[in-house]
This record gives sequence, C-alpha cells and structure tokens, in this order.
Amino acid sequence: MTVHFIGAGPGAPDLITLRGRDLVARCPVCLYAGSLVPREILSWCPPGVRLVDTAPLSLDAIIAECRTAHEAGLEVARLHSGDLSIWSAMGEQIRRLEALGIPYTVTPGVPAFAAAAAALKRELTLPEVAQSVVLTRTPGRASAMPEKERLAAFAATGATLAIHLSIHVLADVVAELAPHYGPQCPVAVVARASWPDEQIVTGTLADIVGRMAERPVERTATILVGPALAARDFADSALYGAHYLRRFRGMDQ
Ligand SMILES: C[S@@+](CC[C@H](N)C(=O)[O-])C[C@H]1O[C@@H](n2cnc3c(N)ncnc32)[C@H](O)[C@@H]1O
Repeated sequence: MTVHFIGAGPGAPDLITLRGRDLVARCPVCLYAGSLVPREILSWCPPGVRLVDTAPLSLDAIIAECRTAHEAGLEVARLHSGDLSIWSAMGEQIRRLEALGIPYTVTPGVPAFAAAAAALKRELTLPEVAQSVVLTRTPGRASAMPEKERLAAFAATGATLAIHLSIHVLADVVAELAPHYGPQCPVAVVARASWPDEQIVTGTLADIVGRMAERPVERTATILVGPALAARDFADSALYGAHYLRRFRGMDQ
C-alpha cells in the first residue's frame, strides 16, 4: 500500500491543503513529525488509527512502521511540517521506500517562509528591488553546509533571504550579512507563524539583536532579510500596467 507524504503547513490547521486533509482522514496509519504538526490535524484521523510521533524514532524505525503497514495493506499518512521540498528528511525516506518497492505520493504544503511573509503582509519579490528569494540555513549539529553555500555568498546578490533553523545564532547571521546589505537593511523575525502564539519582531541589521533581547524568541522562527521587506517606492510591476499587452488583454500569445 501507499505511503502519502503530506506537507502539514506552518501551524494553523486550516493551512493544510484539501488533498492533505482528505488523506489524513482516510489513512489508518498516521506518522507525524512531533510538535510542529498541530494536534487538530491529528484529530481528523479515522477511528482506530495507529498514530505515531516520529520525533523520537530513528529512520530505520520509521521505515519499519511503513513496511509493517504496507505488508498489512494499510495506507500511511506521513505528515511533516510546512512543505516537503525543504528540510523535511523526505529524501532519505523515499530512497528507502523505493528500495523496498513501497509506493508513495507527495502532497505539498504551505512552507514556513510563506507563512512568515503572510504574517508580515509583505511580498518578498518587488520590481527592481529583489527578484529572488533564497531559502537557506546556517550549519547545525546534524547538518553541515556545503562549502559554497555561505550566507555571505547569498548576501552578495542582494536577494531576499529566508533563513531557517538559525534563530539561536542571530548575532552571527547579522555579522555575516551586514557588510553586504548595510546596517539599515530591514530584518524580520517571525516565530511560530500562523500559530496562536505567533510572534513578530522587526528591525534592521543594526538593531535586531537588541530588539530580540527585549523579546527573546527561542522557538521555531524564520529570519527574513532584505530591502524588499520595507521598500515603499518600488516600481509597479509591468504585468498590470495599462500599456502592457498580454494574452488575456488584447494579445493572442
Ligand atoms: C526542519 S525546518 C522545516 C521547514 C519546513 N519543511 C517548511 O516547509 O517550512 C524547521 C524550520 O522551519 C522554520 N519554521 C517552521 N515552522 C515555522 C513557523 N510556523 N514559523 C516560523 N518559522 C517556522 C524555522 O526556521 C524552523 O527552524
């Protein structure tokens, strides 16, 4: 039977997709990634569900759960926070499932960086200000960074950065970015975006560390950096300009 990888979204239960919700409601086995998957989503599981928090489990133990369900003919809902395409550990699970011949599907979810931008009510790409968003992180105990993927290298582009898994090293992040963006570059820290205890702290590279000291955030947070966060005098996008012809406004293609 099939293992369904499902992006559970950033926290608010109603930010999961309809497809994800229907799969959760259907599957008699549900494996979920610890505290970042909201309890309300788990309450949609069918009666008698086998519900397993995978936070304390090894990869071997997680795959053993999938294998047992597969052999019993049971579908599995495999929930991860946010979207599955970034920092979900889905890649290594898929590799094992393929080796075992267990089929799987992937249902995307709302990623944390998008929920953080929504909390700020900001667009991360603005005409002539920033046209790229870099989703990145700093090295962790379990994950070294590839040599070329340094914050400073991304900062040199001037793109908007969405820095994950790094709130505990905010001062280091600021020190590495300030030479590229300048001290007045806007920064926003969004903790637990879309959860009831969501917290937003905004500032600049010069003062964000001090502001955070006043309102410490030790929990799940995304750091957004770049001029697009505060730009007000950017150009309108050509897409909706009065003289821009496109397919549905007077041009065939
Ligand atoms: C292991 S990664 C998971 C990312 C997830 N797959 C996604 O699509 O966003 C966890 C990191 O994502 C960020 N994160 C996850 N949920 C968040 C939320 N609700 N608000 C702010 N940041 C969040 C934090 O940087 C956290 O350290």
